[in-house]
Amino acid sequence: MRYLVTAALPYANGPLHIGHIAGCYLPSDIFVRYQRLMGRDVKYICGSDEHGVPITLRARKEGITPQQVVDTYHAMMRDSFKEFGISFDIYHRTSDKIHHETASDFFTTLYNKGVFKEEESEQYFDEEANLFLADRYITGTCPNCSNPNAYGDQCEKCGKTLSPRELINPHSQLSGKAPVLRKTKHWYLPLDTMQQEWLQEWLLSKEDTWKKNVFGQCKSWLDQGLQPRAVTRDLDWGVPVPLPGNEGKVLYVWFDAPIGYISATKALTAQWEDYWKKEDSKLIHFIGKDNIVFHCIIFPAMLKAHGNYVLPENVPANEFLNLEGDKISTSRNWAVWLHEYLLDFPNKQDVLRYALCATAPETKDNDFTWKDFQDRNNNELVAVFGNFVNRTLVLTAKYFENNVPARGKLDDAEKTCLDALTSAPKLVQESIERYRFREALSHVMDLARAGNKYLADTEPWKLYKTDPEKVATILNLALEITATLSYLCEPFLPFTSQKLQAMLNIQPKSWTDAFGNEALVAGHALGEASLLFDKIEDEEISKQIQKLEATKINNTPVEEISTGEKSLTPFKDVTTYDDFSKMDLRVATIVAAEKVEKADKLLKLTLDTGIDTRTVVSGIALHFNVDEIIGKQVTLLANLAPRKIRGIESNGMILMAEDGDGKLVFVQPARATKNGSTIA
Ligand code: 2FM
Ligand code: ZN
Repeated sequence: MRYLVTAALPYANGPLHIGHIAGCYLPSDIFVRYQRLMGRDVKYICGSDEHGVPITLRARKEGITPQQVVDTYHAMMRDSFKEFGISFDIYHRTSDKIHHETASDFFTTLYNKGVFKEEESEQYFDEEANLFLADRYITGTCPNCSNPNAYGDQCEKCGKTLSPRELINPHSQLSGKAPVLRKTKHWYLPLDTMQQEWLQEWLLSKEDTWKKNVFGQCKSWLDQGLQPRAVTRDLDWGVPVPLPGNEGKVLYVWFDAPIGYISATKALTAQWEDYWKKEDSKLIHFIGKDNIVFHCIIFPAMLKAHGNYVLPENVPANEFLNLEGDKISTSRNWAVWLHEYLLDFPNKQDVLRYALCATAPETKDNDFTWKDFQDRNNNELVAVFGNFVNRTLVLTAKYFENNVPARGKLDDAEKTCLDALTSAPKLVQESIERYRFREALSHVMDLARAGNKYLADTEPWKLYKTDPEKVATILNLALEITATLSYLCEPFLPFTSQKLQAMLNIQPKSWTDAFGNEALVAGHALGEASLLFDKIEDEEISKQIQKLEATKINNTPVEEISTGEKSLTPFKDVTTYDDFSKMDLRVATIVAAEKVEKADKLLKLTLDTGIDTRTVVSGIALHFNVDEIIGKQVTLLANLAPRKIRGIESNGMILMAEDGDGKLVFVQPARATKNGSTIA
């Protein structure tokens, strides 16, 4: 038997945040580390999903190629995963040649077997750009809420799912022109007939083994009746449709991405077919809930249609993680970014791993808060796990020259403790096998708690003078618990496990040998002890909260910015670079604001420029309330000659954008930036 474990291929168009980690990367990593410790044959597959329209949109916006976009984020995500201890056997990418060949062959096999339905339909075409428009490339007025900037697939204001033809006044994002309808041909996977033939029966057989949230979603898709799904798109970024005469068409990103699991396995091992095709292989997909239909319905349909492949044994999808009570949002920058965490909290990977596992959204959406993160560290990792280990090691060094003392007679307290010790591994294993990682972690912590209680109850530090033999027994047992903890915590806290094993001077062990016999023999010399975890102070947490709050202040919701076509001011005459470079533009924060007496339009602002605190008088009083602008970051023309306005000396000017309707908006950095940063 062998396991093939996949974690959803993240889109290579932005960095990773804690929602991604809690959703599928941490649970899959725990699961795989566990399988390895059980001595099982397991391969852990992931990589970047490098196709799809959002990547082309981002490239266009930034004036670079899609390949440049994916190269940047592929490297960034690969490095963050590695540093965070996500132990993929391979982190591949779908722009790789092996993947293009594999996806292309897969399509051809299905095509040759006559699986696809071929259909012509009318789709929007941009005559100026000379291409068919992906749904995201078309905007128009939402028929539901009249938002003038709704996308062809969704209105982000009212949330309604749309099709491009529902938009009122559609126009192309590329040329700005109204698109025309043109005929185009695509290939469809006939999920409707597959539902009747086998898919429904297969899915319904999963009721008892798949998680309720996953099975429930599948059931509701089935109840609505599956529809044929197009597996190709008119686009120039992706795997080209491998049929002659079909230039400008690529495989739909959701057709090629899961095939990415196959190509990555091919890139990893010559034995890839064993994992994908032998009947005793278990294919397990870890994903977030938004990917359920693709992994539970569409990809299995593709695999079955191809033939020879195993179907997923399980798809343990998680729900979503929120942040401080709000949905994580990349566009609003409401997120804790993994690469920033790794910089802000060096060597604290396990603290985030612990906090995310302990609050994982396994059965329902859950909330990450910085306060909870701090509490989990200070009250659980430091106060329970770290404290127990530290007391045990310090006392052993003090009384037994850092060697494991011999165990003597066992009383009731020892027996209770031994019970906890022997039952913990089994409990942890059972929970992991059922994909209950939170529960598994709590069993690990319960063992540390039992150890702590044992020390607190027996108080070896008071006993040594009168009964050193009893102290030897107590510490022998406490050390045995410590060793067991070092093995048991490995899937969850791999860095801690390693550190603890160095402190105990023991080697990592397979779980099949680690438990049941004594891990430490009397006389074994221990290594050097140090603290496993440090307290996280309030200031560090406040800094993170402020960082988040600043993103709220600085992000004006998109719909507030009018792009009104009315009376925009014409361009001014040309200026020289020299003239422009004389201006000293800086990021500053408004720290105080008050109305200027007898002047309706003026506000007296106090600005923190990072270098000084200064007063600027600004004519924005009719546009903003004093309270709403405090804390906002602005752009300051810092070297404008001072002048007196209504008796107040004004030192500089803040820049505002004014739309055609005379509405003012602050010109500010896209995310919180250090005051005093230069702008050029
Ligand atoms: O939702 C996402 O981020 C997708 N890129 C996941 C793809 S998973 C797999 F199919 F490749
Ligand atoms: Zn709408």
